[in-house]
Amino acid sequence: MSTHGPDTRIRPMRDADVEACEQISSRAFLELDRRTFQRGWPDPGPRPADRASAWQARTRHLLTTDPGGCWVADVDGEVVGFATSLVRELMWVLASYAVRPGLQGQGLGRALLDAALQHGRGCLRGMLNASADPQALRRYVLAGFRLQPQMLLHGTVDRALLPVVRHVRAGTPGDRDLLDSLDRRTRGAAHGPDHEVLARELRLLVTDRPAGSGYAYVNANGAPVLLAATSRKAASLLTWEGLAASDPAVPVEIGHVSAANDWAVDLAVEARLAVSSWGFLALRRMKEPAPYLPHATLL
Ligand SMILES: CC(C)(COP(=O)(O)OP(=O)(O)OC[C@H]1O[C@@H](n2cnc3c(N)ncnc32)[C@H](O)[C@@H]1OP(=O)(O)O)[C@@H](O)C(=O)NCCC(=O)NCCS
Repeated sequence: MSTHGPDTRIRPMRDADVEACEQISSRAFLELDRRTFQRGWPDPGPRPADRASAWQARTRHLLTTDPGGCWVADVDGEVVGFATSLVRELMWVLASYAVRPGLQGQGLGRALLDAALQHGRGCLRGMLNASADPQALRRYVLAGFRLQPQMLLHGTVDRALLPVVRHVRAGTPGDRDLLDSLDRRTRGAAHGPDHEVLARELRLLVTDRPAGSGYAYVNANGAPVLLAATSRKAASLLTWEGLAASDPAVPVEIGHVSAANDWAVDLAVEARLAVSSWGFLALRRMKEPAPYLPHATLL
């Protein structure tokens, strides 16, 4: 175990740390959102209870699949920061990373990231979704990642603009091999065990036709939060099918759209959604996956 100061330890995360880590994450991102607040955007407020419990479930999943990738900074017995990461088929992914506001900028983040990166030693490829925090971006570039700007598509969906979508169906556990094949083709590594936690939280849509195959996990308001496809057409069909279930009164947000995924921007324009820039996709030794929308933490 590495040390940072006399009373500071970087140690493996335990199940009992997960709640404290979720609170640090919620506070750190709230503080970051307020710092980088865009005019006209509503203040996001603290993370709602359902998202907090989904965060904890995903982190417990990673503690099971990748105990060597999950670390905390412990000062005098209190957890003040953490980094969680995973390895899937020789790709390292940083899932989540935060230090308590007030203790940032003192080197804890560097020590945590170094510990998590050790879990991925031997993996050439790596990916992570980066916030716009200059402190985080500095750490990622120094760790060998290249930053690609991402877009956020947002607004309410006018039902009159929805096209008729055919050949998209609900996914089942029997589609797992297809999903893994699509991931290998687009991002170079399957999600494997992550499908279990994703399927518990989200609705799975699948299309599998000679003209194109793909899958999307969509959230309660119909926005895809992870999508992989063999063609832009298949990716668009899946997205339209998801949006058809959205509540016309509730804005949808489709995040993590990189430049290589301009099919999603074309769709947003057709659906009259607004396009903004938002965060970065950080990649190491790999191309931008496409047609692909990465999951926020499981990528
Ligand atoms: C990202 C985060 C985990 C890093 O932890 P940390 O303890 O602040 O990290 P460190 O102190 O080791 O490193 C911060 C680096 O940013 C530098 N830094 C501080 N303010 C900066 C600024 N405004 N612009 C550029 N660099 C800055 C520091 O000098 C330090 O670099 P150095 O060690 O090479 O001198 C933490 O800042 C955080 O929780 N941020 C909010 C949540 C977040 O964005 N998480 C990442 C999600 S992708």
